Amino acid sequence: MAHSAGQLHIGLLGCGTIGSGVFHLIRKNAAGLADAAGREMVLARILVKELEEPRPFPVDRTRMTTDQSEVLDDEEIDIYIELMGGIDPALSYALKVLGRGKPLVTANKELIARHGRELMEAAAAGGTVIRFEAAVGGGIPLIRPMEESLGGDNVEKIMGIVNGTTNYVLTRMSAEGITYEKALSEAQKLGYAEADPTADVSAGDAASKMAILCSIAFKAGFTADQVYREGIQKVSPDDIENARELGYAVKLLAIAERDGGGVSARVHPTMVPLDHPLASITGNFNAIFVMGESVGDLMFYGQGAGSLPTATAILGDVVDISRNPGKQAAARRSYWSKPGEVKPIEDVETRFYTVLRVVDRPGVLAKIAGVFGDNSVSLESVVQKGIGDSAQIVLITHKVVERNFQSALKGLKELEVVLEIPSVIRVESGRE
Ligand code: HSE
Repeated sequence: MAHSAGQLHIGLLGCGTIGSGVFHLIRKNAAGLADAAGREMVLARILVKELEEPRPFPVDRTRMTTDQSEVLDDEEIDIYIELMGGIDPALSYALKVLGRGKPLVTANKELIARHGRELMEAAAAGGTVIRFEAAVGGGIPLIRPMEESLGGDNVEKIMGIVNGTTNYVLTRMSAEGITYEKALSEAQKLGYAEADPTADVSAGDAASKMAILCSIAFKAGFTADQVYREGIQKVSPDDIENARELGYAVKLLAIAERDGGGVSARVHPTMVPLDHPLASITGNFNAIFVMGESVGDLMFYGQGAGSLPTATAILGDVVDISRNPGKQAAARRSYWSKPGEVKPIEDVETRFYTVLRVVDRPGVLAKIAGVFGDNSVSLESVVQKGIGDSAQIVLITHKVVERNFQSALKGLKELEVVLEIPSVIRVESGRE
């Protein structure tokens, strides 16, 4: 496609839900985008796996090809957008265009969370840039505010809901008292959850996003496999009810903070106080709470997924690259080459909610308290509920090192009066 000076030619790699949203917005908001970018945006070439596939918005077939070289080697293309997802072939295509000195915008969190270092180094070597605002929090402006607006501050802690599917499931469980399985199947029927929801419910998706946020916030290269994770599969309606009685909501939280010399990074079901802003985030929304040493507390909220919200974030990156070419050369993110150091989960301090099913007879509570005491675990609240021949003890600890708490759990399991430990959920209260 012939290129005029006032145009920005874009090569799109992958065109499904998000890609067709990008095509749609470039058409629909052409004048505004041209004003913002300083050039008319032209979606010149589109690489697809299948010419015909269901897409939420119609896409011009004449721009499509299934031949990667027609897009990757096109000299007229100024900037690439990668929306293929996964690692192969997205990584090799990304390295190729960066190596040719072309800027790259991607929504691929897995790619950045696993190969961030390689990609940042390839961008620097090619004298160009890679941007990925859409990889975390969909349409929420987050990466650029953290990199630029907070450039003069030190981030101390990030705490967020970065997965909409699991937040939707937990919201339904909380509102309707239904099981995890029922809420998930409802989410799938409504199209909020993937047919294979494993990456979402097991916290893998959130761990990738957390690794990216850690890299930006703590200025080193963190990878997804460094982020401790637990999914939401074991959260029960009883846990949600108990949490409510104790003044908490159950959320899948991604939490990272400066901790001594290192950083702790984890994603797990978490009880947050009902009056904490994150407790009120319902449905498939995302919200990320960032605590800066100087700026104080900030919260970013919005649609963390979906065609048009994610396409908006992608086009924001394209606008930024187009209007600030000098900045791109400076923003090399060389810190990504320094491996991020994560504190092992065993050394992290937090509070725990636990449910014990025990024999209901005199002296049981004393035995349980003894095990906690022997392991230096201090209890904040203990509630006993009788259920037939056995009793249920619901307790919350004070802050304790994970290793000590796990050792107490081991001791409790060895007690003949403890029949079952059905639930363990970490508890957060925000800035602690
Ligand atoms: N599957 C993700 C979610 C969206 O449910 O939030 C894409 O990152």
